[in-house]
Amino acid sequence: MDDKKLRELPVECLWDGLILNDDIYNHSGEVMLLPKGEVVVKSKLEKLLQFYGGEKSVMVHESTYLEITGDEHEIATISKDEMERQSGYEKLHQNIGILFHNSNTELWLNQEKMDALSQEIADKLGELDPVTIFECMNIQRTAEEELQRHSLNVAFLNGIQAKWLGMEQDEIRKLIQAGLLHDIGKIVLPEEILSVPRKLTENETEVVRMHPVYSDRLLMDQFDDEIRSAVRHHHERLDGRGYPDGIMAEDIGLFARVTAISDIYDVAVSETSYKKPILPLNVLGMLYREEFGGLDRMLVMNFIKNMRAKYMGRQVLMSDGRRGIIRYIPFNDTGHPVIQQGAVIKQTNNEWFCKATIVEYVSND
Ligand SMILES: [Fe+2]
Repeated sequence: MDDKKLRELPVECLWDGLILNDDIYNHSGEVMLLPKGEVVVKSKLEKLLQFYGGEKSVMVHESTYLEITGDEHEIATISKDEMERQSGYEKLHQNIGILFHNSNTELWLNQEKMDALSQEIADKLGELDPVTIFECMNIQRTAEEELQRHSLNVAFLNGIQAKWLGMEQDEIRKLIQAGLLHDIGKIVLPEEILSVPRKLTENETEVVRMHPVYSDRLLMDQFDDEIRSAVRHHHERLDGRGYPDGIMAEDIGLFARVTAISDIYDVAVSETSYKKPILPLNVLGMLYREEFGGLDRMLVMNFIKNMRAKYMGRQVLMSDGRRGIIRYIPFNDTGHPVIQQGAVIKQTNNEWFCKATIVEYVSND
């Protein structure tokens, strides 16, 4: 046994099939019952405990105890603002904001500058846990920050999806760039239309719907065709109900289909002064039920599959005010995960549900 602090854990908190990163000891802490990496079989563990004195609990390392119980007072967390600062996310969106607010686009909107920025985002993607990025997306944004934050979020989501699709580095960078620039045409729209906290009039909607055309025009010939097509078609839908061109299925390229999912996801989870955020797992449920319409089903399924894997084992704040750990997320009902609170493991319902995810970013410093 090493000298790390051990804590007592009732056997009923463990379950068959669990694999731990640390050893499990008997009640006195003197005998290792199960080495790390082995699958827990409760009946075997109980037999061993009987042999070593009949206790109903085992000893595990502090970190394992906290991971399993989700103890509400003992897990160190940081504020979202602090996470955004430490992860480098804040610096990135501020830099993008400085660029986007410079009206002389010729100075900054060129392939070389955007390649460098896309590389910076790709590097960050390699450094950070995707859930840290998903959490940074949820930070409340002001109307002034909307475009820079949304552009960065969609760039990250495109990069994450590209990785999950097994794309090469060059393709990943291109998709990041498409995300970064997909709404750039909004910089030429009247400010008052973009920031009104109400439903737009028909005329205003018509104006806003032109932004993919403006984005495409701003990029001009110096940008890659795949990037331009993703930018122009990120609001097109496979059923032909999208805009600005109303094209269908096979006419909409892969990059545009990926960007459409990233765009929808970020808008859904975002929080503004006039819109409440939707929890990531609930957005996945909406995507599964095709509530947004006209998206590429294969890409949506891949997105749900990977997001689901990333959120399994994460902590959440429950509607009863206590923390819980996500133990299982049903693929066809991601909004109702199975949560563990201490020895209790049960599926969420309308009375007992997840209120928020809990920030767990740990700095490498
Ligand atoms: Fe858009």
